[in-house]
Amino acid sequence: MNKNSAYRTNIIGGDEVSAVSFDLDKRMIHETNTLFWDTEGNDILGAISLPLYGAFISEEVCQLFGDVSGRKVLEIGCGSGQSLQYLGERQASELWGIDLSENQIEKTRQHLTGHGLSATLICSPMEEECGIPEDYFDYVYSIYAIGWTTDLEGTFRRIATYLKKDGVFIFSWSHPIHKCVAVEDDKFVFKKNYFDESWYSVTLGENTLTLSDRELSTYVNALAKAGFVIEQMIEDSDEEIMQSQNNDFAKKAKMLPVTFVIKARKL
Ligand SMILES: C[S@@+](CC[C@H](N)C(=O)[O-])C[C@H]1O[C@@H](n2cnc3c(N)ncnc32)[C@H](O)[C@@H]1O
Repeated sequence: MNKNSAYRTNIIGGDEVSAVSFDLDKRMIHETNTLFWDTEGNDILGAISLPLYGAFISEEVCQLFGDVSGRKVLEIGCGSGQSLQYLGERQASELWGIDLSENQIEKTRQHLTGHGLSATLICSPMEEECGIPEDYFDYVYSIYAIGWTTDLEGTFRRIATYLKKDGVFIFSWSHPIHKCVAVEDDKFVFKKNYFDESWYSVTLGENTLTLSDRELSTYVNALAKAGFVIEQMIEDSDEEIMQSQNNDFAKKAKMLPVTFVIKARKL
């Protein structure tokens, strides 16, 4: 199991897939992933939205946001718009969202309109300057979107500028240990080197997506460099949600973290 093997196995969602490594090329990654999310993205990977942070962790139990009434919130990678709806219905005063995909932005717009809500929505890669105000937001959050960035440290620095002092940044992503282990005949099999952060490409359906699985320490260190202090980190799956599902994914979640959530504060 090489650290930088060209052909390897990866875990996407609950499934094992074949992947091909390649060098980081930001423009190419954005083009590939925009196409993925403009077409089949959500149909293949599904929406992951508040109150859920991932398949087995819920805001209803964790209460990381607390009372958002009167607060300005920005979602990075707003996707389906369901998380913005969740916070809008809890009286957040302003809803903002950015997403790489025009199709996802349109979905968010339609979803919010259907629920009597409106938001400022911007189609842009999260890595780039896109006119979002600085020192403005009480909360910036992201549900399963941060890991798509081609520049983690730059993205965290940018998010820090959007937040007011003491503002809160909450994000969830696939736990990197989950990305290494597959379930085979009731056994847990290590399939990928945890330390391998190289970019890889996977074909799902008619489309290709490009990703990198970063170590947990890469996220923690990038937050520290961007001026955040971590207040809480969640790895445990919720017992009740796991018990309600009887599949390999739930079996795996009982043995290792499949999602991590971090709540950090801008110093
Ligand atoms: C797994 S979805 C999750 C989104 C959301 N939580 C939902 O419920 O649909 C990931 C989202 O991130 C967006 N995305 C991917 N790469 C991005 C980037 N570099 N900048 C901004 N958004 C990106 C995709 O277009 C997609 O909408």
